[in-house]
Amino acid sequence: MPKPVIEICLGSSCFARGSNRYPQAAARWLAAHGIAAELRGRRCRKACADGPIVAIDGVEHQVPDLEALHRALASLIDAAPQSVIQRSRA
Ligand code: FES
Repeated sequence: MPKPVIEICLGSSCFARGSNRYPQAAARWLAAHGIAAELRGRRCRKACADGPIVAIDGVEHQVPDLEALHRALASLIDAAPQSVIQRSRA
């Protein structure tokens, strides 16, 4: 089963609005929730007015801040099959 793909726009407009903080924040959130995903940067897709933009499996989300990033990533918890969720067993 392929991992979900998370693409964070690092174009100049999204970057200036804070998307530069998102790769590290997303990696931390995914690790904390035990979700294996492919995390990528991407170039501007001409949705700058709505940015920062984060696409999850091709679905674009408006992500104005870290709280919104976490909400967008949380969609993976319900959508992901168990095979991509690697929860630790304590
Ligand atoms: S810079 Fe992100 S959509 Fe244009």
